[in-house]
Amino acid sequence: MLVSAKEMLQKAREGHYAVGQFNINNLEWTKAILLTAQEMNSPVILGVSEGAGKYMGGYKTIVGMVNGLIEGLGITVPVATHLDHGSYEGAKACIEAGFSSIMFDGSHYSIEENIAKTSELIETCNKLGLSLEAEVGSIGGEEDGVVGMGECADPAECKMIADLGVTMLAAGIGNIHGKYPANWPGLRFDVLEKISEAVGDKMPLVLHGGTGIPDEQVKKAISLGVSKINVNTECQLVFAEATRKYIEEGKDLSGKGFDPRKLLAPGVAAIQAKVREKIELFGSAGKA
Ligand code: 13P
Repeated sequence: MLVSAKEMLQKAREGHYAVGQFNINNLEWTKAILLTAQEMNSPVILGVSEGAGKYMGGYKTIVGMVNGLIEGLGITVPVATHLDHGSYEGAKACIEAGFSSIMFDGSHYSIEENIAKTSELIETCNKLGLSLEAEVGSIGGEEDGVVGMGECADPAECKMIADLGVTMLAAGIGNIHGKYPANWPGLRFDVLEKISEAVGDKMPLVLHGGTGIPDEQVKKAISLGVSKINVNTECQLVFAEATRKYIEEGKDLSGKGFDPRKLLAPGVAAIQAKVREKIELFGSAGKA
């Protein structure tokens, strides 16, 4: 059964670890992530961008697929299906389709409009027992058509949004979607400290752009209140690399190597290894 991300993130905030949000693209991705979370006895959040939602045939398909896999694979760890960087309309559509968690990204609106739209969604989510993530400041780079300039969040605005009663808060601290450029100066811990102080020690903070952040910076971010870390590109990169290797070695040309279950297996194993590595790093193993 799908659960809201509220309880798993509050426990993570109290226990000084983070729960991974791994974005999904298809059945193989979803299965790989669910099986790894189960193997490691870790709660897990499945991230779905609006683009990925469209790709997979709509939000209802995703809810059906995830619920089916939870039952069919015997998954017992807490699993949330979470809209990633949702628009206001996307948030409504996912609530309707049965998602257990929503991100409304109002960071490109004025703070007044972000507050108004976030408040309305909080009310709906509270009624239905869903978790809601809001965003202040923006995550740099591009993810599935959502482009951010990467400006750091203002701690006072973070407090205003947190006080509305959101479940978790994403705040820009110099993080970027996709690969980090070689000259990236690193996370702005000075800003994260101020945000953490402003919103208090009960509010789980979300770190987007998890791909390629050095482990030491991830650990420091967790120590300063980050309780959810989003990873997308890194799984895509290892999947592509393993699939390319299989084909370049000509394995699809020998015997029944063209069978999709064989062709996609190395990529799936690569995603599992990556998710395992991240769950270890984030400290959520054994916390289900
Ligand atoms: P990466 O693609 O950089 O891992 O970012 C994922 C993310 O933040 C999803 O919202």
